[in-house]
Amino acid sequence: MDATEFGPVHRDLLRLITCGSVDDGKSTLIGRLLADAGAIPEDQLRSAIPHAGNNGLPDYAMLLDGLQAEREQGITIDVGYRFFTTPRRRFILADTPGHEQYTRNMATGASAADVAIVLVDASKGLLPQTWRHSAIVATMGIRRVVLAVNKMDLVDYRQGAFADIVTAYASMAERLGLADVTSIPVSALRGDNVIAKSDAMPWYDGPALLRFLETVETVDASSKPFRFGVQWVNRGAAGLRAYAGTILAGRLRVGDEITVLPSGVRSAVSRIITFGGDLEEARAGQAVSLTLADAVDVARGDLLAGSEQPPHIADQFAADLVWLDEAPMLPGRPYVMRLGTATYTATVTELKHRLDMNTGAGRAAKQLDVNQIGFANLALDRQAAFDAYADNRNTGNFILIDRVTNGTVGAGMIRFPLRRAANLTWQSFSTDRSARSAIKGHKPAVLWFTGLSGSGKSTVADAIDRRLLAQGRHTYILDGDNIRHGLNRDLGFTDTDRVENIRRVIEVARLLADAGLIVLVSFISPFRAERQLARERLGADEFLEIFVDTSLAECERRDPKGLYRKARDGKIANFTGLDSAYEPPGNPDIHLRTAEMSVEQEVDLVLQALRQRGILD
Ligand code: ADX
Repeated sequence: MDATEFGPVHRDLLRLITCGSVDDGKSTLIGRLLADAGAIPEDQLRSAIPHAGNNGLPDYAMLLDGLQAEREQGITIDVGYRFFTTPRRRFILADTPGHEQYTRNMATGASAADVAIVLVDASKGLLPQTWRHSAIVATMGIRRVVLAVNKMDLVDYRQGAFADIVTAYASMAERLGLADVTSIPVSALRGDNVIAKSDAMPWYDGPALLRFLETVETVDASSKPFRFGVQWVNRGAAGLRAYAGTILAGRLRVGDEITVLPSGVRSAVSRIITFGGDLEEARAGQAVSLTLADAVDVARGDLLAGSEQPPHIADQFAADLVWLDEAPMLPGRPYVMRLGTATYTATVTELKHRLDMNTGAGRAAKQLDVNQIGFANLALDRQAAFDAYADNRNTGNFILIDRVTNGTVGAGMIRFPLRRAANLTWQSFSTDRSARSAIKGHKPAVLWFTGLSGSGKSTVADAIDRRLLAQGRHTYILDGDNIRHGLNRDLGFTDTDRVENIRRVIEVARLLADAGLIVLVSFISPFRAERQLARERLGADEFLEIFVDTSLAECERRDPKGLYRKARDGKIANFTGLDSAYEPPGNPDIHLRTAEMSVEQEVDLVLQALRQRGILD
């Protein structure tokens, strides 16, 4: 069959990432590769030859455009993509910074790479950054690593120097699960073993770097099991529905059977449509529209697969996480997850460990800070279809987005599904919440009081509770201090613990509301994300966020428990409003400005709102 049916014939493409710092000679190596591969214009070449300080050798580092900042600051500050072509192959080279704070850039560059070149300075040996780079490379699922032992000229091209580094790296690679390492001794500055084999190291019998890169085998995504991510649904005339998206892996022919996931509905492909006309067959990388033989339900975010090696379906999985945000990852906090073309609400249910990038060891941790990598369990709000990242990078990776700022905060690679919830079903009972609340003479509700310590949350909750009880209503108070004596006695006041504190209380409030009660929750609940979670878990019609708005100065003046004084004396750490944040509600259901109102007025305002909402008659 003529390959032109699938569009233009592409020369085979290899994606590379280079890991190292300027000190390792990374820019020189890249410059040398590009220059000798003919990717740099003549005039630019001439202006760099010779450059002072290099003994008359060309300054290849100088050749790299777009690295102005690097020359000024002595560091590479962003991911740069460079393209070059040799008669055998096309290359895309992601040039990423090697410094610790740039993990996220490296992770970005590594996520698409087939091969990573890890650069080591022969005169210095393995450095902590070698670990860091290799850990990211391993986490991002790059199988093939070239250990380029550079500056061999500085160690007199000695075989022993090279062998020592290769041996040391082998144990590092083994711990990180990097199974395919090719070590090449080079001198980027002098050009030894970069483009051509060098006479200076007759003991080395492997290929020069470029030859290796030209011949290393790549995985062809078309040979993997079929996957198609539905980007949108086109409803055309006469009931024609076409599903637009990208073939993420494998091939597809008209007539092929497919399964829609996660629903599991089956059908067959009736047409493969492109702008250039219909196709009989399409393959990984192509953007097409499909029509199916049956009128089945397919939505944006669904994954279409064949019968061969179906994806996993689960609402929990274990994954490696790279944290990209200055604000730390807090287990229990809800994030938006983009997995393929679908969007979920996801929480980290357990952070198993954080990677110590200087040793490669896993360390216990309660949160992930910016540029850290961790291994965690995550839970989604519903079933998802996915692959392990090791099997398919396209269908096994996701990003996490902050629900308040909308910024991308994390990137993840799925390791395996968790089946814990697979054998649990929701048991329905004949008496439901409406029956329970009907005999109580009111609807269930959760009154969520938020505000600083000493703002008066418990005081007003107590007054409302008394008024409701006097009316014969059925209520219960959940109070921060009290719950921390029992259910939450294992929690302190770090951000992580506060998130978990609120998560548990949301679940308890849900149960009590289900029992038909009016629940009064009095917790500082300092973070917007968790209060938003409460609203979602409890349902907008029975959840009222009540902001007990008392200024910090006034709370501190009252200081009913003497805690502000202690905190100011340095005897309490992470105190809300002082050295721990309070994020005031932007748009609370009820705003109690305590400086302007009496407790009785506050009670009246809340009861009025309950009547307006039909919670009380
Ligand atoms: S929350 O932030 O996790 O919602 P919660 O309402 O449970 O806090 O507990 C707050 C109560 O714990 C305060 O009213 C105060 O009595 C006490 N407390 C002790 N240490 C702290 C602290 N570091 N910050 C805030 N409150 C504290």
